[in-house]
Amino acid sequence: EKGTYPYYMLKEVDEQPAVMRKISQAYLSQQGDCQIDEALLKEMSSSDRIYIIACGTSSHAGWVGKKIIETLANIPVEIHLSSEFGYNMPLLSEKPFFLFLSQSGETADSRQVLVKINELTYPSLTITNVAGSTLSREATYTLLLHAGPEIAVASTKAYTAQIAVLAVLAKALGQQKNRLVAKEFNLVHELGLIATSMESVISEKELIQQLVTAYLTDTRNAFYIGRGVDYYVSMEAALKLKEISYIQAEGFAAGELKHGTIALIEEGTPVLGIITDEITGSHTRGNLKEVESRGAHTLVIASEGLARPTDQLILPNVHPLLSALLSVVPTQLIAYYATLQRGYDVDKPRNLAKSVTVE
Ligand code: M6R
Repeated sequence: EKGTYPYYMLKEVDEQPAVMRKISQAYLSQQGDCQIDEALLKEMSSSDRIYIIACGTSSHAGWVGKKIIETLANIPVEIHLSSEFGYNMPLLSEKPFFLFLSQSGETADSRQVLVKINELTYPSLTITNVAGSTLSREATYTLLLHAGPEIAVASTKAYTAQIAVLAVLAKALGQQKNRLVAKEFNLVHELGLIATSMESVISEKELIQQLVTAYLTDTRNAFYIGRGVDYYVSMEAALKLKEISYIQAEGFAAGELKHGTIALIEEGTPVLGIITDEITGSHTRGNLKEVESRGAHTLVIASEGLARPTDQLILPNVHPLLSALLSVVPTQLIAYYATLQRGYDVDKPRNLAKSVTVE
């Protein structure tokens, strides 16, 4: 039930700190041990490549997961859109492991791939929010998101839950392989910090609403840019914005804009930059300058340690591997308020269904 909330989406955004704590409790001991099926860990850590199969927001969570798994567990990860993989299967490695990411566990495009994978007798894991869902029943293993029902068509808490569960899995795999970087990654502490930091971002709703009025009123298009994990979040931020507010939005790798897309920048085009990565932050700033000098109206979302006084939204510092969990939150709220401002139904955007059960 949405209680006093005007829309499920806002309630689900607000629930994210609690979901982070729930995942921590469900999967981690205070000592940092991960409660994950040993057989799954064995099978996954002995594979030579993980193939993440997903659609939409779940695929964006997959990109962040790739970074975390490769860093902590040292296993190469490829991300594939289910609808592409189904008909255009890449050359597989010798010992592949398939990881299906699906909030609903019912997405037809993903199921079609799982059916093929099962025919080929490869091992698989579904990470889903719905126990007993089709993808869960048909995969070798399942991990649950513990996010509680997500009703709004725009996925919010499932995205952050997917990243958090992928982080648990990555740590467990890294520990299984005796990797110091995984053992030293204090995920109980880091997820706790993420939860309180999310609360502080969520308490900035008024500011975010004002920024939406200042930057997105009457605009037909908008760009999110970033590098590395900030690029992955940009893709998700743009999907959220276009899906419910109908503003044509694109998420770009900041350095790629100048290879064509910069031609679209006009006087007043909103360009939102995400800066949480120490190594690439200054480069993204350079790209923001480039578009500004061509008339773009730039808005910067930066983590505290990298922020400048002129930045519009400042995020508390969190572990760099987990920064997506926090930087996505203001972008969810930006999409929400842009939609409210335009008078559309936030929870039920046109042409879309919560789970896409047709191919
Ligand atoms: O249930 P799934 O995670 O498999 O759904 C995948 C996409 O359909 C879904 O994430 C979609 O992109 C969302 N509506 C985005 O907010």
